[in-house]
Amino acid sequence: MRIQIMGAGALGSLFGYFLLKGGYEVIFVARGEQYRALKENGLVITGIEEHKAEVSVTRYPENSDLVFLTVKAYDTLEASKLLRSVRFDAVCSLQNGVGNEEILARFFDNVVGGVTTYGANLVGPGKVMYAGKGKTMLGNYRGDYAEVFFEVLSNSGVDAEVVDDIEMRIWEKAAINAVINPITAICRFRNGKVIEIPEVWEIAERTAVECQEILMRMGYRLDVVKMVREVALRTSENRSSMLQDIERGRKTEVEFINGAFVRKGEEFGVDVHYNRTLLNLIRGIELGVD
Ligand code: PAF
Repeated sequence: MRIQIMGAGALGSLFGYFLLKGGYEVIFVARGEQYRALKENGLVITGIEEHKAEVSVTRYPENSDLVFLTVKAYDTLEASKLLRSVRFDAVCSLQNGVGNEEILARFFDNVVGGVTTYGANLVGPGKVMYAGKGKTMLGNYRGDYAEVFFEVLSNSGVDAEVVDDIEMRIWEKAAINAVINPITAICRFRNGKVIEIPEVWEIAERTAVECQEILMRMGYRLDVVKMVREVALRTSENRSSMLQDIERGRKTEVEFINGAFVRKGEEFGVDVHYNRTLLNLIRGIELGVD
């Protein structure tokens, strides 16, 4: 089976590596320095596992059986348009943020939503640090391919599960990201500090309560404050993906995280003061980065 990783950055490359180990033919779709490094030197995995592999890498998508989409949320539309020019059976998003599956479903019949807590950091072009084992949840968003992706991931040693409430899981992860990511990106510290510094935790807690209120209006009863505490503790040494984006002078996914909560909150008449403040501060930092 031929599987394509559309967006072979940190997480995409780690999953590509898992699939190679599982015996699949994997195509890594990457851009810029990452493309060049993967082509010239192969993929280097460090951290929990150490490995070096030659990989098949392209700049543009090719025909395949399945596609894992791991581009940043703001690139989903462009990636969907590119994918329209090739043939494949189904696509599974493993991205951060809310709204990716909705975009994909405008273009494709078989769309699987995915949420993963595996940790991966890009330590240099073509070099990925496998930072944390996690769990990957999959669910049908359109069509019926979740089981197929599940089998592929399980065969590759990935801890995966098919769930029937993927939309809730996506919002759940977005809520955790809405608290940890902008705060760590603004303060430029590791996730653990969010709970260690009382003044910072006060802001984190209030943001979490706002997210929780919005999720409740959506019919999802979740203890966001507790979840944020647990994730910040479990990933205390991680530098969040948003912090990494800011440090590299890149655009962040804040519009698909806090932006999504602000839009939902306004729809329900929930006060989104904290989410809006974090969203606007990150927007400001993005504008200041050249
Ligand atoms: O985006 C991230 O970095 C991660 O989702 C999380 C959970 C905040 C851990 O760093």
